[in-house]
Order: sequence, then C-alpha cells, then structure tokens
Amino acid sequence: MLDSTATPLKALLRRRKPGYSLEAPFYLSPEIFEADMDVIFGQHWIFVGVDPDVPEPGDAMTLNIGKASIFLVRDDDGEVRAFHNVCRHRGAPIVHDYKTTVGNLVCRYHSWTYGLDGKLLAASHMGEGFDPSCHGLKPVHVRSLEGLLFVCLSDEPPADFDVMAAKMGPYLAPHDLKNAKVAFEKDIIEPGNWKLTMENNRECYHCAGNHPELTVPLFAYGFGFAPEELDEHERKEAEDYARLLTTSHREWESCGFPSTMLEHLDDMATGFRTERLPLAGDGESHTNDTKAACKKLLGKINDPRHGALHFWTQPNSWHHFMSDHAVVFSVLPLDAERSLLRTKWLVHKDAVEGVDYDLENLVGVWDATNDQDSTLVSYCQEGARSPAYEPGPYSPHTEMLVDKFCNWYVNRMIAHLGR
Ligand code: FES
Repeated sequence: MLDSTATPLKALLRRRKPGYSLEAPFYLSPEIFEADMDVIFGQHWIFVGVDPDVPEPGDAMTLNIGKASIFLVRDDDGEVRAFHNVCRHRGAPIVHDYKTTVGNLVCRYHSWTYGLDGKLLAASHMGEGFDPSCHGLKPVHVRSLEGLLFVCLSDEPPADFDVMAAKMGPYLAPHDLKNAKVAFEKDIIEPGNWKLTMENNRECYHCAGNHPELTVPLFAYGFGFAPEELDEHERKEAEDYARLLTTSHREWESCGFPSTMLEHLDDMATGFRTERLPLAGDGESHTNDTKAACKKLLGKINDPRHGALHFWTQPNSWHHFMSDHAVVFSVLPLDAERSLLRTKWLVHKDAVEGVDYDLENLVGVWDATNDQDSTLVSYCQEGARSPAYEPGPYSPHTEMLVDKFCNWYVNRMIAHLGR
C-alpha cells in the first residue's frame, strides 16, 4: 500500500524497471488508483461503446468512469453526443437506466428539461434573472472511429486521436460497425486492478495452458516464441505460419482489407496497435468450430476467410473483427482491486438470431475466455498482496506488449505528474 511511510508515487514511477512487472502499490494502493483515474482515465481517450449502442435519435446509454457519471445520446441530426449525467440545477442524474430512449432529457427531480444537444429548454419557477443558456448540460468530448466510441473527460483531449483515426479508419471500415447491432453484451467484475486486466490481455503466453476454446481458432505461432526452444518440426511449423501470414496479408490487402501490423503502443498519448491475422482450422471466425457464426457477414464482406483484425488501444480496450462478427472489450476501473470488463458481440444489423446465428455459438469462445482471464487476473492480484511479491521479468518473446503497456502507463503518469 502507498501511505505516508511508503515510497511516493513519483519515486515509484521513476524507478520502474523496464522489462519487469510493476511494483505492488500500483495494483493495491487506493491513492495510486485515484491518480490513475485523474491522469489516465481523466485525461486520455477511453473506449466506452459502439455506435449501435445508440442506433436511433433519442437512444441513450449511461456509464461511469470512476466518479464521473456520463451518458451518450444520439441527437436529432444523427450525431452521438456525450454529457456529464449531472443536472445543472442540483446535480441529480438525468438518465437513470443503462440504455433507454428519450424525447427530451427531463430531470426527475424538478423537471428541468434539456434538448438532445444539452441545451436547457425549460426550468419553471426560476425567476426573471435566470439565464437558461448558462445552464446547459456539461459536454464530454466524444469521437466515433468507424463505429467505436471513445470519450475524453478532459477539456483538452490528446490531439493524436486524429492520427489513430487516420491510420485505423481504413482497417476498420470494411467491417462497417455502424451498420451492425449488439447481439449480446456481458459485464464481468474482475477481482483485480485495471492494469492487471490490461496486462493479461497484452500477452498470449498464458493461452495454451488456460484457454482451450480460444486456442482452437488461433495459431500457436502467432503468440510469440523463443526460436532457440523449437525442435526441427516446430521450426518448420513456425516457418509455415510466417509464410501464411505474409501470403494472407498480401491477398487481403489486394482486395481492400489493410492487414499489416501498425504499432504505436508506447509512443503516442493515444497508443494503439493493429494487425489482421489468419485463423486456424476453417479460418473463418473466433468460434469453437472456426466457421463463421453468423451467415450474414459484416459490411460488404463476401468471403468469410478474412482472418481476424485485432485492434488494441491504451489504456482500456481491445477488439477483434472477423468477417461475420466483432467482439469489443472495455475495461472500466471500479476501485484499486476491482475492474469492470464489458464485452459486446456485434453482427450485421439485419442478422436474425436463430436464423442467421446461434447466440451460444456466437459468444462461446470469448465468454469462456473472459471467465478464464478473470481467474488469472485474480491470481496476480492475490500475489501482489503478498509481502513476498516483487516485480518479475517479462518474456522478450511473448510479453513485449505487456512491457509496452507498462511503459505507456508510466510515461503518461510522468508526463502529467512530473518527475
Ligand atoms: Fe434536476 Fe432539480 S436537480 S431539476
């Protein structure tokens, strides 16, 4: 724990050893959790949902980022807006349900009424000197990246979101998420600090031993490996995989599916990484039989064998886009030792459950994988509580992205807090 007798946060940040996991207070301390919420979640772009969460004008969705309650709403012009969910009269929430549809935004307490643009339209009994134009809802910055919705609580969001959007737009566009629907969503409260949830996501070192469902559609050689540990047969398999990757990228790119790896995980405020990877078996989707789970493919895709486009963002999301469905994940910290993992499965908006897809088949791989990951996160949280815990070394072959996540985190904290 970080307390008055412990090492101050800035000193912990300064002495972080690259290539090693973080010191225990980063996973346990309520004070560092508060700093994380101020700096990381208060001043960076946070993935919160998808355009199909609010498909029609008046559709709204609430969520919490730390102490900030916000809501997204689609306005009458079809744009998604975001506001603090705090009435400008005496602070009551405006939207109470997770998802709902509204005409205007009416506070339940004294009926102050706001338009979908946040302007205060009506407030009775407020007297002559009252100026409604000074009491609109407080806006939150929101951006849609080809249907992925990001918000930033800061008045001055990192400008390099535009760089990410320019680079990622062509990768994401073929999957046409704006014309998809949320077929299923599920929340899990993971018993671990948000950074442990993210670190677990940034490596597949643990996959072979823990994810029997996920390892069916994935190629083991895509997880990273130490070349010197391979026997002759394994070396040939790894070479075959490398050839498949090159060939697949060439084929996909030639038909309009950008596929090669882009990585800016620790050199931008809005860090991200992407790559389209081939899938094993029938090569179609993240399903137990590796075939497409949904007959109606996303966007204008007409070949189910387009692998899986992976998109990771700092600090709180990852996404997998297949030909038939997409799975998007957001991590929202609850306290120093608990995190909300929110997962959404999307299919073409016209796909019909029971006709075009079987829901159990659609969600099977990632539903099981999330539960397994939650247990793994709990192990590390438990370990961090022990007096015997000390930062351990990352594999240079399979945990490079975990190290980059920690680098990004430490660098962003230092950038805001100073050395
Ligand atoms: Fe919203 Fe009074 S608190 S109208």
